[in-house]
Amino acid sequence: MSDAIIRTENLEKSYQTGAVTTQALRGVTLEIKKGSFTCIVGPSGHGKSTLMHLLGGLDHPTKGSVFLEGVEIGSLDNSRLAQLRGEKIGFVFQFFNLLQGLTAKENVEVAAMLAGVPEKEQAERAMKLLAQVGLAEKADSKPSQLSGGQQQRVAIARALANDPAILLMDEPTGNLDSAAEAEVLEILRNLHAQGKTVVVVTHNNEIACKAEYVICVRDGQIQ
Ligand SMILES: Nc1ncnc2c1ncn2[C@@H]1O[C@H](COP(=O)(O)OP(=O)(O)OP(=O)(O)O)[C@@H](O)[C@H]1O
Ligand SMILES: [Mg+2]
Repeated sequence: MSDAIIRTENLEKSYQTGAVTTQALRGVTLEIKKGSFTCIVGPSGHGKSTLMHLLGGLDHPTKGSVFLEGVEIGSLDNSRLAQLRGEKIGFVFQFFNLLQGLTAKENVEVAAMLAGVPEKEQAERAMKLLAQVGLAEKADSKPSQLSGGQQQRVAIARALANDPAILLMDEPTGNLDSAAEAEVLEILRNLHAQGKTVVVVTHNNEIACKAEYVICVRDGQIQ
């Protein structure tokens, strides 16, 4: 369908750990509509992060296909795929994955550099994004000097460095108190209002209630 920015067909993913095979996804067909705010919910260990990684082309399905704006990403070589990800997608991971030795500003600057922002504009862009998530005054703090919610907001600023059309976020409010959660939710709503496609994995009912679409993953399938 034309208004789907991401579409999957019969996605399967299994992981092999020694002799043990885990079938994390068992045939997932779905559509993420362009400009939508979609939540992915479901119990722990049932395949949400796995699905998110496949939607963003970070990992390959065992079977099935992912289409990003109509292009089947399995048909692309790694460099073309990395380029497409870099142009279109911002990721926020379940565990923030900030570079601990760098300040908040430097973490965002690195992402701006990787996104191809010219060197003399990287610092300004990083500061603008940190201001957008309410963290301008913490620009020179390292992750260890920031609260969990602040680190999560740095991770969101970093995900915006390439001005992506699609934001894929895995538990952006995991481990946050309700005030920090409300702040992150407000940021997500603003991004959606700006026209971005926002996909959020969450256990948080408050976020799920605000979403336009809710996808429930249970036992590796969509319910
Ligand atoms: N790299 C991996 N190697 C082996 N098994 C994995 C790997 N990643 C995930 N799994 C397994 O795949 C299943 C789905 O994991 P996944 O991380 O997608 O769950 P989840 O729904 O995101 O859970 P949570 O809510 O706890 O984050 C689990 O059984 C998990 O143990
Ligand atoms: Mg997960």
